[in-house]
Amino acid sequence: MNSVGIDAVAIHAGKLRLDLAETFAPAKGEDPEKYTKGLGLHASSFPDVEEDIVTMGANAAHKLMTRKGLEPDDIGRIDVATESAFDNSKPVSTYIAGCLEAVFEGDFHHANKGERKFACISGTQSLDDAYNWIRAGRNRGRAALVIATDTALYARGDAGEATQGAGAVAMLIAEDPDLVELSLEQGFGSADETDFLKPNQQFPSVDGKRSVQVYLARMREALEDYESVAGDVRAEDFVYAPFHTPFPGMVRKAALLAYRHVTRDTEIEDSLAARIGRQPRAEAFDDEDAFFESVREYMDALKETEQYQEWYEQAIEPTLDIARHVGNWYTGSVHIARASALRNARENGIDMAGESLLVGSYGSGAQAEIHAETVRENWTEEIDALDIDDQLAARRDISFEEYEEIHDVHNHDKEIDIDAFTTPSEEFIRDGLGPMDERTYRYVE
Ligand code: HMG
Repeated sequence: MNSVGIDAVAIHAGKLRLDLAETFAPAKGEDPEKYTKGLGLHASSFPDVEEDIVTMGANAAHKLMTRKGLEPDDIGRIDVATESAFDNSKPVSTYIAGCLEAVFEGDFHHANKGERKFACISGTQSLDDAYNWIRAGRNRGRAALVIATDTALYARGDAGEATQGAGAVAMLIAEDPDLVELSLEQGFGSADETDFLKPNQQFPSVDGKRSVQVYLARMREALEDYESVAGDVRAEDFVYAPFHTPFPGMVRKAALLAYRHVTRDTEIEDSLAARIGRQPRAEAFDDEDAFFESVREYMDALKETEQYQEWYEQAIEPTLDIARHVGNWYTGSVHIARASALRNARENGIDMAGESLLVGSYGSGAQAEIHAETVRENWTEEIDALDIDDQLAARRDISFEEYEEIHDVHNHDKEIDIDAFTTPSEEFIRDGLGPMDERTYRYVE
């Protein structure tokens, strides 16, 4: 069996931009640095009035299919990962297929369609489903389209409001892929948690501070589980580590823990010992609190070392470049972190062919997954084709009052009738409701 992985990727960002430091922080009476330095976020992307998870997903998929010269007959499966669905029965993939059928020759009647839910991790779970389908040989030579699309809104006034975002990532999963091959090995950390949930409600109930701890705990379990099948992970094994990025400050916390883990019992730990001591081992302590205190002190010192800072700048910081300017895209988040890392490699002339990524996905509720990816020969063509910088630059900045309006427009419980802020061109838009209350869409030339 040839390798299986991501053959192509296309991204669609919500067309509005809320500046967190200039616009959001002053309206909230907060220090802008809480956002830019503390959370590591500069701006959030929002969907315009005529955008939603279907239009963003369809626009990303349309771009991907056009660029790769694909017809519906080339696709055997369409899976949408989202936690922003507006229909409890009809999957978003059917709406997106309907959009695409309006612009491509042929139809998707032969394609298996579905919708995956497990908070943010369902984007990666959909990759898994596509991978397994191809490896099982059930794909009849066809590729799978995986679309992660979300409008990540929090209730007004919730602490999570600062981390909002909206956008979609479309990925083509195929044999002998052009971008990255997925490892057979994967590790999980999964537990019944109530850190973030939406019990039949649009906006999440969140225990923000606890969600940070749950993310770290599940990610650590997933790494250990991954090592149980793939062997110990070492810092030099991978060039970048794209992680689920609800906000860059979260990844900063996860990265420090990961670095401590992957340098334990290595020459790096030895070389740091004279300056910051060796890593505390639980067996050396009678008392758990004393052990944790010692770990905290070690981590504080580790964070200040040149070795850690250099590794962070090379392996982690480049994965956050896009997230900083768009916020949390939930299911798409880890997939823009991968794109961000590879874009950085391209800009810096780093030859990634044959090199590895360590990919960490997470979904509240809660589950983490870790796998490795090997970058393929043709990766540069795929990364060069990304137009995310142009999209981000073209976004329309919104004032705080406009933000309040757009939040209401996308609130399922409100009916607000305002004009779109941008003029659509060569894209799908939402244009109303049909006789059975179904959302309707059309392509604007
Ligand atoms: P908060 O209470 O508004 O912020 O909520 P804070 O006071 O904790 O400050 C945030 C950071 O900024 C802190 O850094 C402050 O020190 C720093 P830390 O100590 O944590 O390193 N700070 C400043 N730095 C510089 N200058 C300043 C300043 N002021 C403060 N002036 C919270 C933060 C994350 C709780 C909130 O945004 C939230 O509830 N977010 C939503 C939940 C979330 O994103 N959780 C992340 C893990 S769960 C996850 O990833 C899953 C998710 O994507 C959903 C899914 O899976 O579907 C969310």
